[in-house]
Amino acid sequence: MPQQDDACTMLDEDHNKVAGLFEQYKAAHDPNRQRLLASEICQELLVHMQIEDEIFYPAFQRATGDQPLVQESKREHQEARELIAQLEDKPTEARLMLELEDVILDHVNDEREKMFPQARKTKGLDLMQLAQQLQARKMELLAAHAG
Ligand SMILES: [Fe+2]
Ligand SMILES: [Fe+2]
Repeated sequence: MPQQDDACTMLDEDHNKVAGLFEQYKAAHDPNRQRLLASEICQELLVHMQIEDEIFYPAFQRATGDQPLVQESKREHQEARELIAQLEDKPTEARLMLELEDVILDHVNDEREKMFPQARKTKGLDLMQLAQQLQARKMELLAAHAG
């Protein structure tokens, strides 16, 4: 059986995927393609933030007791959600997409450099088990969005 990813690796794969989609968005010139990419980015982000909010952050906070870091992360999610809501009305607004990219890249950096290293050294945080929960919930949400 292949080695399974832990929760941090799995979440970081989502981050890389979205960063790649932002690059494609910036390289795209056709408004239809921009619209499709913008909607894919927003959907990816909404699902990703939801599984973090529902599963990863509470488990992280329980195990580490680091409330400020989780609160800061949730504030950044909220900022991203507000931009995504604005994009629903103006999906081709490049300025909003660039602003969203900025917020997300900053946030991803915080998770990568602060939260994930702390999660990995915290005993009692089962990152393999969390990865399974995150994956299952992600599948559920993607199926609901697709339907
Ligand atoms: Fe994340
Ligand atoms: Fe996040």
